[in-house]
Amino acid sequence: MTVAALTQLLAGATRIVAFTGAGISTESGIPDFRSPGGIWTRYDPREFTFDRYVVSAEVRRRSWAMRRELLAGAHEPNAAHRALAELEDAGRLVAVVTQNTDGLHQAAGSREVVEIHGTSRAVTCIGEPTSGVPAGCGFRAPASWAFERIDGGDDDPRCPDCDGLVKSATVSFGQAMFPDALEAAAEHATSADVLLTIGSSLQVYPAAGLPQAARSAGASLAIVNDEPTPFDALADVVVRGRAGEVLPGAVADALGR
Ligand code: APR
Repeated sequence: MTVAALTQLLAGATRIVAFTGAGISTESGIPDFRSPGGIWTRYDPREFTFDRYVVSAEVRRRSWAMRRELLAGAHEPNAAHRALAELEDAGRLVAVVTQNTDGLHQAAGSREVVEIHGTSRAVTCIGEPTSGVPAGCGFRAPASWAFERIDGGDDDPRCPDCDGLVKSATVSFGQAMFPDALEAAAEHATSADVLLTIGSSLQVYPAAGLPQAARSAGASLAIVNDEPTPFDALADVVVRGRAGEVLPGAVADALGR
């Protein structure tokens, strides 16, 4: 389908919810997970489950190394992030629900952002959990707090308040989702008139259930992705392409600019 069909859908919408994945940040220099060269083509995701993080100091060391690689360099929002912020400023986009933890939507100026998989920009105490649920004391610090300690030779930083384990404030495989974020994401998806899915392979649940939930609640579904997704047949509009090339023009035309 063409970008014109996406433009037409956005032009008639007043409660757009954007649902984004790692593909919206690749043009900012951050690798996605499942494309050739993506994170999970270089690290084994089965190694980075929450329970393995809790029991293995070696997994924690490799996890910090992987996060440093993801965060390395000053990544800036790209034209796709900015286009969504422009839609919000024009009063047409209600929220961004993102699977990403890079903070680029907020950096682009988006205000209502639900980080359904948490954020890499902070670390938190998870205590000594015995299940997939963090049991921290409440300690939270910028990610730089951990990297400063790692650079100083402590490759397994512990909580300064309770000596519990410290982890990136993200949701790992096997970890319970953050209930508030999940609830907010579902609320936005089921009250949208258009769910605009961008840069996600739509393979990881419960996040990947949002397009179906939105559709079932009556929203139109648009997908912008540079490869097919399992939800293409369900979508009203599918645009095969790069987010940073497709979105700016579609948004400008939809806003009559
Ligand atoms: N424009 C459009 N699509 C793109 C671009 C781009 N510039 N770059 C990559 N893509 C597409 C890829 O073709 C792929 O289909 O974005 C999709 C990214 O898919 P994944 O790498 O699987 O990332 P994502 O869907 O966000 O993964 C979901 O999996 O491992 C977990 O927690 C992790 O949040 C992540 C979740």
